[in-house]
Amino acid sequence: MANAQSAVSVIAAKRDGGELRDDQIDWVVDAFTRGAVADEQMSALAMAILLRGMTRREIARWTRAMIESGRRLEFTDLPRPTVDKHSTGGVGDKITLPLAPLVAACGAAVPQLSGRGLGHTGGTLDKLESIPGWRADISVPRMREILADPKIGAVVCAAGADLAPADKRLYALRDVTGTVESVPLIASSIMSKKIAEGTAALVLDVKVGAGAFMKDLAAARELATAMVELGSDAGVRTVALLTAMDTPLGRTAGNALEVAEAVEVLSGGGPADVVGLTVALAREMLAQAGIHDIDPAEVLADGRAMDQWRAMITAQGGDPYAPLPRAAHTETVTAERSGILARLDALAVGRAAWRLGAGRTRQGDPVQYGAGVEIHARPGDSVTAGQPLLTLHTDTPDVLSAALDDLRDGYAIGPDLVEPTPVVLDRIAP
Ligand code: URA
Repeated sequence: MANAQSAVSVIAAKRDGGELRDDQIDWVVDAFTRGAVADEQMSALAMAILLRGMTRREIARWTRAMIESGRRLEFTDLPRPTVDKHSTGGVGDKITLPLAPLVAACGAAVPQLSGRGLGHTGGTLDKLESIPGWRADISVPRMREILADPKIGAVVCAAGADLAPADKRLYALRDVTGTVESVPLIASSIMSKKIAEGTAALVLDVKVGAGAFMKDLAAARELATAMVELGSDAGVRTVALLTAMDTPLGRTAGNALEVAEAVEVLSGGGPADVVGLTVALAREMLAQAGIHDIDPAEVLADGRAMDQWRAMITAQGGDPYAPLPRAAHTETVTAERSGILARLDALAVGRAAWRLGAGRTRQGDPVQYGAGVEIHARPGDSVTAGQPLLTLHTDTPDVLSAALDDLRDGYAIGPDLVEPTPVVLDRIAP
């Protein structure tokens, strides 16, 4: 049924609340990838899916069709078990940087195909590219060599154009048609790439809160459940942690600033929330990989993860000892009164970091590696009037006043003690 009329019939079936058949899904995804279904037709279908939803069977078939639109990597012949982590994106989320070498130091291989940031959440590749010399374009044979080497064992690189190409085209349409926020579409988009990447096991970090895609726990649970089901149905051992994203993670948001914080964590220091989440995710990843006899907290504290980090950065052309880029201009926000910091809003900090130059508006825009926000006080900390709360970093000082505007309502100082909130909120297993 390869004609425009059949695209209309698929759109109309979903518009009217019907369940799409396997052959309809296979055809529409394949025809869209080949250019035989027009962008406006796929956009209409995406909107119908957003409004009407999809059954578990439809999501699984849609994901399979997106995987089959391209190449599927395979690492089953490696001498070590493979396991990866995916985060749905948060502000200050630099966890992959200490986590990948930590899990590799514990004996697993971590193949991570990662992305660049768009909007207020940063991308892991942008962070790593702030390290002088580091390159994201690693060939698949080189990836395999790195993963097989027990001294390295982790690779973070850009997904090739041939990995789930249907998703790349569809995501670009969703971005401009108000159809990003659909659980079936987000779940199939993320999982098609992760399954195609060839990992045997996967731990998902589904962010919940003001700075995340999913603003409340019920929506995050629905997304996590859909993704865990997709992974399990495709033979990838998958679990999800739901983690808080009302406040930025750690004390930095911005590329080189976050790398510096990750290096602190690998040196045995760093903010407690970043260390705690890194270790919690490492425990989940090792359990999924069948490695039970090693404590990642010890491997982080005693420097073994740092050795692995240096090897991992060097393997991709980076100099782990080189000074990181710093922005030319800074501006400090100070506390206007004494009290307890009651709130620091992740979305406000993420927007400010983006405006300062740490993120991009359009795919392909350059980013400023030194730009971002340094956080001197976190919710629950007592502050005194005049004390620095935030430092803004940028190479383009004309954006400072807009970034300050973003932050104006982004924090609150009050008289009352603030109960610490846990980072890990729930766990979803098959
Ligand atoms: N990340 C993705 O890769 N896809 C989505 O749809 C949303 C976030």
